[in-house]
Amino acid sequence: MHFSTRSIHVGNEKEPITGAVIPPLHLSSTFAPDGDFSKAVYDYSRSGNPTRAALETTLATLEEGCGALAFSSGMAAIHCATQLLRSGDHILAGTDIYGGTYRILHKILNRAGIETTLVRLDDEAAVRAAIRPNTKMIWAENPGNPLLSLVDIEALANIAHEQGALLAIDNTFGTPVATQPLTLGADIVMHSATKFLGGHSDLLGGALVVRDPELLKELYFIQNATGAVMAPFDCFLCTRGIKTLELRFREQCKSALWIAQYLSHHPLVRKVFYPGLASHPQHELAQRQLRGSFGAVVSFELAADYQATQRFVASTQLFQRAVSVGAVESLIEQPASMSHASYDKADRQKAGISDGLIRLSVGLEHVHDLLADLQRAFLEALPPSEDKTKSSVESGRLPQYAYLS
Ligand SMILES: Cc1ncc(COP(=O)(O)O)c(C=O)c1O
Repeated sequence: MHFSTRSIHVGNEKEPITGAVIPPLHLSSTFAPDGDFSKAVYDYSRSGNPTRAALETTLATLEEGCGALAFSSGMAAIHCATQLLRSGDHILAGTDIYGGTYRILHKILNRAGIETTLVRLDDEAAVRAAIRPNTKMIWAENPGNPLLSLVDIEALANIAHEQGALLAIDNTFGTPVATQPLTLGADIVMHSATKFLGGHSDLLGGALVVRDPELLKELYFIQNATGAVMAPFDCFLCTRGIKTLELRFREQCKSALWIAQYLSHHPLVRKVFYPGLASHPQHELAQRQLRGSFGAVVSFELAADYQATQRFVASTQLFQRAVSVGAVESLIEQPASMSHASYDKADRQKAGISDGLIRLSVGLEHVHDLLADLQRAFLEALPPSEDKTKSSVESGRLPQYAYLS
């Protein structure tokens, strides 16, 4: 079956007793099975819940895994994956990663004697140089948050496996619509289900998907022992969101590409980060790895100072100023002061996350309205009298809607 069909039907089989097309939501925290209790499929909701199991079945098929586990948040999923490691082990992570991931690696796992090195994972020589005999996991985002950089998953999997390390890919931004990392050799796929999978800014969740049943057992043991499972109602909402994942994501990607093109021609924009642009240094890899859906997140650097950047982020109306990505509502934020504020300043600068960087999550509003919103923000935050490209603004040479026809 095709992706969209599996999104709707796998894990969502009709309920056998009543024939309900939508499986019921099981809120029960505990179960009283007849017969041998030790053989019951469900006994307690931390260990297993039918609504969670349905979501996990759907996630496994969409990521081409042997099984999946659903967590109370993306961070809980990351925490579980890293609990595979022991004191004295080492993690190699990309420089372009979510601020919360940076924080758990550098400020929580270090307390347990697990060390992390950040390295540009698109630079094979740098990766090989940073690998140590005790490197047990390589952690990368596809694409990276917030700079939308890519790693060649197939090449990185080979390096990780030569070393006997696991390759874990945070596929939150790519989604299985664009990339299925397990098919490219990754061992673990992680999601913040809060984002594109849920898609409506109304749930918090995370997921791990794997292709090795033994690894699944090990992760399940950690999840059950530590307890950060996704709540049944959130699972129900996530399952509902996933049914429209492919449609939503493809449409959001289309709008994102238009917006990236518009920004790349704007005189007040210094740089646009979007793998769908032909000018992106990894565009060729993006075409292969993201399979034509380049993502719904666009980052760009204003040719303006910190204050003007803050003004811009506060000026848009449809793009609401908020962290998170992936929902039907468009969002805007300044990574340096919001999603990536937990970075140490030096690491943030080294990673290239400047104070002028703005991250957009492109939703499902009409792209004309979104472009008009950005255009209004340029005029409000950087009025022509203040900006150094005054003449192009005043003469009306802004490339309005150049890509809409
Ligand atoms: C790429 C990425 N991974 C992980 C997370 C963490 O997920 P959650 O907020 O669901 O814990 C986020 C959150 O923004 C994210 O952007």
